Amino acid sequence: MSLKHWNKKHIISIRDFSRDEIDFVLKKSALMEDKLSSSKPVKLMKGRILANLFFEPSTRTRMSFETAMKRLGGKTVGFSVAETTSEAKGETITDTVRVVEGYADVIVLRHPAEGAARVASENIKIPLINGGDGANQHPTQTLLDLYTIQKEYKKIDGLSIAMVGDLKYGRTVHSLANALESYNVKLTFISPRELKMPKRMVNRLRDKNIEVKETTKLNIGNADVIYATRIQRERFPDLQEFERVKEAYVLDEIILNKLKDDAIIMHPLPRVSEISPEIDETRHARYFQQSRNGVPVRMALLCLVCGVDF
Ligand code: CP
Repeated sequence: MSLKHWNKKHIISIRDFSRDEIDFVLKKSALMEDKLSSSKPVKLMKGRILANLFFEPSTRTRMSFETAMKRLGGKTVGFSVAETTSEAKGETITDTVRVVEGYADVIVLRHPAEGAARVASENIKIPLINGGDGANQHPTQTLLDLYTIQKEYKKIDGLSIAMVGDLKYGRTVHSLANALESYNVKLTFISPRELKMPKRMVNRLRDKNIEVKETTKLNIGNADVIYATRIQRERFPDLQEFERVKEAYVLDEIILNKLKDDAIIMHPLPRVSEISPEIDETRHARYFQQSRNGVPVRMALLCLVCGVDF
């Protein structure tokens, strides 16, 4: 796949990616991880600037993009508290990114409004990467999730993947489910009735002949990957509803003997109470490794959209 194909490409939704494009990014991420582990510094983005525009809280996405850019020899600017920006004076997101285009070579945007990244990208010439837009999409999280699964199993096709928790508001599971449309996988969606995966997504998967089971029971005995998620308190219009479901599923030591021997537990993090700390040191836990994988994946993406060959 040519460098020209990626140069200045906005990364807005995983639905914009073909399977070939996803596989290409995963291959390039592995290459980047090799470079990262060698003793030679990787200075591919020397002289370039990344703008991190975070209108919603973040630890991993913001910091791993910052780490990625710095490991590539570039620099970062930006903000992580929207109240300190001119949005507080009524500036639109479109104007904000047009201004930032004059300061930086690439933008990462996180925003609470679904579709914000798409709208923001429409009038700028530098690449914009969606770092999460409301309950909609989180494409770079999906790429690092797939990278983690592929690294573990050396494949994605043929696996059985269970997504557990808030499948209604969780953007990471929406993005991941969209990406898995292109793979030959079996999916089990485990959620309280109120937090089911949106029907249109289930239908899209079934239309692509993906086997999908939906259940309220923690049926994870056949899963190769258990992808747990936090119940997204901040997206509930009614907090009483949140209180009812907030501890719907807890992965603790009791579930360990139900798992396949080589099953892995993933989580985009942050977790609240859905995975007990005693799971952390078991052979099943991959969530801290998963968050670390964000660095080479985001390094690879930054290079690709900035037209830097490696
Ligand atoms: N996984 C993820 O998006 O984490 P942050 O909200 O901390 O960026």
